Amino acid sequence: MSKTILVTGGAGYIGSHTLIELHNAGYDFIVVDNLVNSQKESLYRVAKIIGRNIPFYEVDIRDAVAMDEILTLHPVDACIHFAGLKAVGESVSKPLEYYSNNMTGTFVLVEQLRKHGCKNLIFSSSATVYGNPAQIPITENCPKGQCTNPYGQTKSMLEEVLTDIQKADPQWNIVLLRYFNPIGAHPSGQIGENPNGIPNNLMPYITQVAVGKRPELGIFGNDYDTHDGTGVRDFIHVVDLARGHVSALSAIERGCGLAIYNLGTGQGYSVLDLVKTFERVNRVPIPYRILDRRPGDIATCYSNPSKAFEELGWKAQYGIEEMCRDAWNWQKNNPNGYEQADY
Ligand code: NAD
Ligand code: WQD
Repeated sequence: MSKTILVTGGAGYIGSHTLIELHNAGYDFIVVDNLVNSQKESLYRVAKIIGRNIPFYEVDIRDAVAMDEILTLHPVDACIHFAGLKAVGESVSKPLEYYSNNMTGTFVLVEQLRKHGCKNLIFSSSATVYGNPAQIPITENCPKGQCTNPYGQTKSMLEEVLTDIQKADPQWNIVLLRYFNPIGAHPSGQIGENPNGIPNNLMPYITQVAVGKRPELGIFGNDYDTHDGTGVRDFIHVVDLARGHVSALSAIERGCGLAIYNLGTGQGYSVLDLVKTFERVNRVPIPYRILDRRPGDIATCYSNPSKAFEELGWKAQYGIEEMCRDAWNWQKNNPNGYEQADY
């Protein structure tokens, strides 16, 4: 019998892509999302791609009563926990909302999972926990660094909380996945990243310039100590990232206890590398202007992902060209994201 996974935040960018990979790997799932940063349309589209309905609850994971009811109705084998607020800049102006949502949400979720006898959890962490990394490429042994914003603090603190929970009760299997910079979209062009308002992150900004929604890209600094002066990141295709969660489930099934993995490609590309590759692959110009550095940014951040390969057999398959191709395929077919529902 196939296993059932609770996917919190499953209507969001990474969650929606993960549903497809779960389906492909033979898992059943239910989705809980309060749609604070997503649309139901993403789930309709996933349902169309995988050819089956998705059990969905529009619920805030902080609602313990509702979560209790859902888990009573649907016994689950594991939870992949994406639900959270993620905008770094917004977290600085709304710290209480971020701490409440991300911390309390996780506390309520974990309590309800425990109550219902499910002690298997995959948590969406972030390379942001390394702060300004002490070593490049970053291995999981790299000491955690100073997070300069409440969003990053919630990820770092939740890692500690979950570690303590697993230590106190070794029946828990908890995988902390530290994502690097997810970009791209499902090759179907049906689902992708759909930010509200002005994008904070680089790739959705590039695609909105490409589609004519914004006149030019602002590049935050070209005086970093990198090969061309612009920031260097470990961009990872969102489908590869989604598959990393399926691999992490197999670690849970083997009884991994607490495990931490970087999910990145191990390749660093600069902002200008990404812009130039996007232009070349898609034959679309991306006008840009160099601006001041963005406060809180670091020069270089890329992973050593070999632990995930050695222990999970997971390795990113897609390169930067496919990331650019698929990001554009999504944006050009959906210039207004999920607003243009086609059914
Ligand atoms: P997203 O905003 O697209 O998805 C998060 C989903 O969670 C949204 O659908 C939102 O509506 C939902 N949600 C938020 N609070 C909720 C609550 N209290 N109850 C129920 N649902 C709630 O973000 P994403 O890019 O898919 O990120 C998924 C996870 O991965 C987040 O935890 C994020 O912090 C983490 N992460 C993202 C990145 C990135 O660059 N995208 C990098 C590292 C880590
Ligand atoms: C990448 C590079 C910018 C926008 C963030 C979070 C991190 C994680 C992933 C959740 C940097 C430059 C960007 C623009 C630019 N999220 N840039 N112009 O900052 O590496 O990581 O998302 O956990 O926690 O901090 O990603 O896409 O914002 O920036 O020049 O309009 O692109 O300066 O060098 P970042 P990003």
